[in-house]
Amino acid sequence: MSEQMLANCGKFFGVGVGPGDPSLLTIRAAEVLKQVDVVCIPRSRAENDSVAMKVASAYIAKTAEIMEVLTPMVRDAETLEAEWQRGAEKIAKYLLSGKNVAFITIGDAMLFSTYTYLMKKVREIIPGVAVESIPGVTSFSAAAAYLNEALAEGSEKLAIIPAIDDPEQLREIFAQFSNVVLMKVAGKYDQIVNVLAELGLKDNAVYMSRIGYPEQFVSFDLDSLRGTKLDYLSLLLVKREGF
Ligand SMILES: C[S@@+](CC[C@H](N)C(=O)[O-])C[C@H]1O[C@@H](n2cnc3c(N)ncnc32)[C@H](O)[C@@H]1O
Repeated sequence: MSEQMLANCGKFFGVGVGPGDPSLLTIRAAEVLKQVDVVCIPRSRAENDSVAMKVASAYIAKTAEIMEVLTPMVRDAETLEAEWQRGAEKIAKYLLSGKNVAFITIGDAMLFSTYTYLMKKVREIIPGVAVESIPGVTSFSAAAAYLNEALAEGSEKLAIIPAIDDPEQLREIFAQFSNVVLMKVAGKYDQIVNVLAELGLKDNAVYMSRIGYPEQFVSFDLDSLRGTKLDYLSLLLVKREGF
C-alpha cells in the first residue's frame, strides 16, 4: 500500500457503547459517532434489531450510512472466520474510499467483542490503516455499580470468564478467586448453579440480565431460574464473602 493511498484512507474506529443505558456511553464515543461517515453494526441472525444500535442511535449523525456485519451465534471457527473476513472486506472498501468507519459494540470494545477480530482482519487487508479503539463501560462494571457492590477490594482477586460447564474447571476458579464474573451464562446456567450449590456459594451469587436496559432483571434466587430460557445478555456475579 503506497503512502499516498494510506493518507487518503479513512480511519477505523471500534466504539464500545456501554452496557445499555445510552447515558453511559463515553464522551469520546459520542464525538466519534457524530462525525463518522459509516456506522457498522453487529447483527446476529437471531436478532431483529442490533442491541448496540439501540444504545447508540441517538448519537449517530442522520447522514451516516449504516452497514451491517453478520455476527453468527455459532462456535464453528470456519463459519465465524468467513463471516469476519466478509465483514472486514466490506469495511476496508469504505476505508479505501476515504470514509471513516465506526464499528459499534456493546459494553467495552476490547472484551469478548467481534470488533477485535474484525480490526485484526482490517489491518491485514490495509496494513498501516489508522485505528482507534474507544473503551466502553462493561456489563459487569454496570452490574456492580447497580448493586452498589465492589467487584474487588484490597487483596481480593477477580476473575472474568466466559461461562464454563466443566465442573472441575469451575471448582478451580472458585478456589482461586474471591470474586467471579461469569459471562455468556444463558446456555450453561443449570450446570453452573449445580457447582455453586455444591461449593456452598449459591446464596453468594446474583443473576443479572439486560443491565441498563428498561427490561433489566436481577435475581438472587438462582434456583428459581433453573430450566428457564435465559436472555443471552445475562451474567452471574459471585462473591465468596457474599453480598
Ligand atoms: C459477547 S459478550 C460482550 C461483552 C461486552 N463487550 C462487555 O464489555 O460487557 C456478551 C456477554 O456479555 C454480557 N453482557 C453484555 N451486556 C450485558 C447486559 N446489558 N446485561 C447483562 N449481561 C450483559 C453477557 O454475559 C453476554 O452473554
